[in-house]
Amino acid sequence: MKIVIIGARGRLGAALMREHQGEHDVAGFNHAQLDLSNLDKIREKLGETDFDVLVNAAAFTNVDLCETQRDQAFRINAEAPDLLAKICADKGAKLIHFSTDYVFDGEKRAPYTDEDEANPISVYGESKLAGEKNVLAAQNRHLVVRVSWVFGPDRPSFIDGMIKRAQENETVDAIADKFSTPTYTHDIARMLPQFFDGDGEGGILHFANAGKCSWQEYAQWALDCCREFGVPTKAKTVGPLKLNDMQAWVARRPVYSVLSTTKYVQLTGTRPRTWREAVADYIRRFYSKK
Ligand SMILES: NC(=O)c1ccc[n+]([C@@H]2O[C@H](COP(=O)([O-])OP(=O)(O)OC[C@H]3O[C@@H](n4cnc5c(N)ncnc54)[C@H](OP(=O)(O)O)[C@@H]3O)[C@@H](O)[C@H]2O)c1
Repeated sequence: MKIVIIGARGRLGAALMREHQGEHDVAGFNHAQLDLSNLDKIREKLGETDFDVLVNAAAFTNVDLCETQRDQAFRINAEAPDLLAKICADKGAKLIHFSTDYVFDGEKRAPYTDEDEANPISVYGESKLAGEKNVLAAQNRHLVVRVSWVFGPDRPSFIDGMIKRAQENETVDAIADKFSTPTYTHDIARMLPQFFDGDGEGGILHFANAGKCSWQEYAQWALDCCREFGVPTKAKTVGPLKLNDMQAWVARRPVYSVLSTTKYVQLTGTRPRTWREAVADYIRRFYSKK
């Protein structure tokens, strides 16, 4: 199967490249090789490329910057996926497009299913939701995979920032009143081939590691794992912060955005491992010197 991955140097895209090479015929485009804000280039580059599955892991992901760069956010997160979806439909290829828990407003207090209504509260969320709709309108076998709080070795994220801060400071803190589920790029990459089949079901799929936590709990578990695996940190405990304390944030963020993976479990007969297992695995593999 020929797979093309867009966003090949991103946190998720790089993990997909690594995990799928060897098992499939994989090619990737990074930002410099294919700029999603240039629709003519997309037509040109993808027109001359042969593939069965196109995976779009590229996006304008800076949530705060999206607020002041609305046009660019919509161009990359909505218009480009629209074109990708149409190109794939014309070629008879399947598009797997990544989206986000930030399409929800966060008012619910139980995991969001793919049938819950999206109601974004940021430009990033609005642009990603518009992208989802464009992808699904182009062909009913295209798949939109929503993920949350993505972490992995290819680009630093919240967890790496927390470990670094804990290595440099005696005290650290993190937001205690915002909830979702950390999701390991390795786990996303391992589950994805189940959906490469062009005849498989399309639509929206939620994927996240199991369970839920606040950023404080997430960070605390990361430090606990560091201790367990012999990774030295000065700070051992993570103090609480309130979402309202984050004065520097420009965009609003949902306070609760746990994704229900019930549909994924029903479709595949497998369960994602817990976020605690995934985080422990990551720290053992990429931080531990033991
Ligand atoms: N990170 C999270 O916590 C999270 C949570 C929920 C959903 N998601 C979704 O998961 C997907 C992957 O995100 P990620 O975590 O891997 O983010 P990331 O590390 O920021 O990766 C995004 C990639 O897109 C590329 N990109 C940005 N603008 C582009 C453009 N105009 N043309 C082509 N490429 C462009 C970036 O390249 P440069 O860096 O070179 O610009 C980067 O390689 C996205 O759809 C995102 O919305 C992420």
